[in-house]
Amino acid sequence: MAEKGSIVAGFLAPHPPHLVYGENPERNIPRSQGGWEVLRWAYGNCREKIKQLKPDVIVVHSPHWQTIVGHHFLHVPKLKGLSVDPIFPHLFRYRYDMEVDMELSDACYEEAIAEGLVAKKMSNPGFRVDYGTIVPLHLLNPEWDIPVLGISANNSPYFFSTRVGQEEMIKLGHATRRAIEKTGRRAVLAASNTLSHLHFDREPDLPEDMSQEHIFNHDQYQWDMRLLNMMRAGKADELMQILPEFIDTTASEVKAGSLAWMMAAMEFPKIPAKVHGYWTVIGTGNAVVEWDLANRAVAAGGR
Ligand SMILES: [Fe+2]
Repeated sequence: MAEKGSIVAGFLAPHPPHLVYGENPERNIPRSQGGWEVLRWAYGNCREKIKQLKPDVIVVHSPHWQTIVGHHFLHVPKLKGLSVDPIFPHLFRYRYDMEVDMELSDACYEEAIAEGLVAKKMSNPGFRVDYGTIVPLHLLNPEWDIPVLGISANNSPYFFSTRVGQEEMIKLGHATRRAIEKTGRRAVLAASNTLSHLHFDREPDLPEDMSQEHIFNHDQYQWDMRLLNMMRAGKADELMQILPEFIDTTASEVKAGSLAWMMAAMEFPKIPAKVHGYWTVIGTGNAVVEWDLANRAVAAGGR
């Protein structure tokens, strides 16, 4: 069991609202007949792992909480409300109720400033939390009995270049790691990203009609497999090298920086990651992937 002040696990944790919709939790208003089971079962494995790890906090970086100036950290002790996906309101209208780790939020803010980043604490009690934050948090811990910290996606990759944006996210990752060490937290990280992101623009009459779900095109699939094989082989440095090309080729949501942030916070681990599942949602490539840092020595021995 890892010590205090460490990242015990990191998850690539995609956030299509379809996954919550398919599960029919009481908190989500729309009802479904299921769907996207392979990804939901993959998340089920991660839930079990989190129950074993008993972390103090789950930290999530969301591409859909976009901030124009700087990196923002949730900073309200309790956030409660109804979150509606603006693209899929018929799939996701979710009643959330979350406890924010305020001490870690303060520490992340301070360390981000020390890193030379523009940062801000989000202290508006009426703030509406986005689905990119909520979906992974629900799927990793539907009981919501672990405090959380949400981090926004600064838009710098869209103003400058993909490479500059990823470099900034690496700094944010270093800052997050130091904040976790300083506060003595045992933290789980979640990078709320799909992989390839070209998608269909027509929805079936029944959104969960799985006869209509498939990869968008072969090139995207091949790129996703290339990345996942690097993760499975523990090739963190090669993965970081290839990210800008992957982003530009597949319109990947990784551009928002969640994966680069998490890899940097985990110090680019050379252990094999575990791919719990891969499937498409409206054609986008989604993988649920785990880096087991608490058992790093075991993982390094190969799975
Ligand atoms: Fe998204």
